[in-house]
This record gives sequence, structure tokens and C-alpha cells, in this order.
Amino acid sequence: MQNVTYNFSNKVVVVTGGAAGIGFKLTTSFLEAGAKVVVWDYSQQALDTAQKELGKYASQLHFAQVDVTKRDSLATAITALPWSVDVVINNAGITKDKSFVKMTDVDWDAVINTNLTGLYNVTKGLLEKFNSSSAHKRVINISSVVGLYGNFGQANYAATKAGVIGFTKTLAKELGRKGFTVNAVAPGFIKTSMTNAMPKEVLDGMAAKVPVQRLGEVDDIANACLYLASEQASYINGTVLSVDGGIVL
Ligand SMILES: NC(=O)c1ccc[n+]([C@@H]2O[C@H](COP(=O)([O-])OP(=O)(O)OC[C@H]3O[C@@H](n4cnc5c(N)ncnc54)[C@H](O)[C@@H]3O)[C@@H](O)[C@H]2O)c1
Repeated sequence: MQNVTYNFSNKVVVVTGGAAGIGFKLTTSFLEAGAKVVVWDYSQQALDTAQKELGKYASQLHFAQVDVTKRDSLATAITALPWSVDVVINNAGITKDKSFVKMTDVDWDAVINTNLTGLYNVTKGLLEKFNSSSAHKRVINISSVVGLYGNFGQANYAATKAGVIGFTKTLAKELGRKGFTVNAVAPGFIKTSMTNAMPKEVLDGMAAKVPVQRLGEVDDIANACLYLASEQASYINGTVLSVDGGIVL
């Protein structure tokens, strides 16, 4: 896919869950666009792999092992930040899928703590670390189509992804006057290592349900985030950008 090009030189982007999956693509895309990127992830293995793969961008990168559910872990990482921040992308997220009847308290708490409380912890913790002179401060929160229309087996996950949208709209109202825009991206079915392991007929069946007849690529999400982070998107605030080929319609 040919990506639109952006120039984020002199901008600093924090990506949570930035060492794997969609987050890794976000990290790579912002590096390619000239940004400095802070990668926060709780998987040391994913961080090590990412660091190896991104060797040529070493001077633009800062890695830290951070668990977004743990405020002490975050406080340490925030103190260690080498740069003030222009953009945060709240991307870290997990699923613990089960029908509601079978869902346990542990499944519920894990997903709420990561996808929703983690979002609060990171955004609250970083507020004072934003570049105060910038009129283009950005918070981008990764939601999901499931937060818009629900999904069997995902009561916990759908609740968090709908919560992300309420959080986004409220912060958009509160922080707009302080030079921020706050937006959400709602991905549909995106091809990741998880979907790559699924049988072709299952993937074809999923693609057939999408009006544009294909699954999404991680580039589709990265392109949406690059745009929302750019100065050209400075009048877009509090929106939920569905990047789903029309599946939500
Ligand atoms: N893949 C999809 O089809 C899809 C669709 C809709 C929304 N999303 C959302 O996109 C985001 C990324 O999803 P993905 O598919 O790339 O997932 P992934 O599992 O491939 O990657 C998630 C990353 O977040 C990290 N992470 C998880 N919990 C963390 C925590 N507590 N603290 C720090 N890091 C943590 C993981 O280590 C991993 O590197 C998630 O918020 C997810 O809900 C994904």
C-alpha cells in the first residue's frame, strides 16, 4: 500500500502497546515520518524484538517496559521520559472473550483495567508532560467497531471500547481550549499475527461481510492516526474515525 507522507520531525509520539501488532506499525510509521517515538509496552520480549528491528532509528527511539494498568510502573516511565510529548496514542489493549454467562470476574477486571483504566492512567499521567508551547497537542485513542455495535462473547471488551469513545468525547470538550484535539479510531477486522494464523476460508468469510470485501491492514490504522496527529487535522476533535471498510454500516 502506498502511504500518504507526513512530516513529524521535531514531534514526539508516545505509543502504548507500541512493540507489537497495530502499535508496532504505528511506531514504524511515525519514525518513517521523522518523529521521535516513545514505545511503552509490558512485553519485554516484544520490546527486544522491536528494538532489534528498528535499529536504524535508534536516535529517534526511547523504549520502556511499562504496564499501563500499574500506576507505579507508569510514574517511573514518565519520570524517565527524555522529551516532552506532542502526541499520545493509547493503543495497548487486550481481549478475554467469553459469553457473558461464562465470563469470570478475572476476565472482566483484566480487560477493564487494561483498556479503560490504562487509558485513564496514561492520559492523566502524561498531561503535564505535553509540550506546553504546542498548539497541536494530540490524544488518539484506539477503540473498536465492537464498541459501536457490540459483539457476541465480548461484553467486557465492547464495554471498554464504548467507554473509550465517551472518554474521548469528554476530553475533546475539556482539553480543546488547551491546544489539544482528542479523537478515537475504531478499527474493524484488521489482519494481524492472530488473523494470519486463521484458515483461509474463515478469513474469506470475514472479508465477504465487509462492504469493501477485504480485511483491514495495519497500515489502514496507521494512516488514520498519522492524519489525526497531523496539523492538517487540527479542526477534527472528538470524532470516532471508523476504519473498517464499512462493516459498521
Ligand atoms: N487487531 C484488530 O483486529 C483490532 C480491531 C479493533 C481494535 N483493535 C485494538 O487495537 C489495539 C491494538 O491491537 P492489536 O491487535 O495490535 O493487539 P496485539 O495484542 O497484537 O498488541 C497489543 C500490544 O499491547 C501490549 N499490551 C497489552 N497490555 C498491555 C499493558 N497492560 N501495558 C502495556 N502494554 C500492553 C502487548 O504487549 C502488545 O505489544 C488494541 O487496543 C485493540 O483493542 C484491534
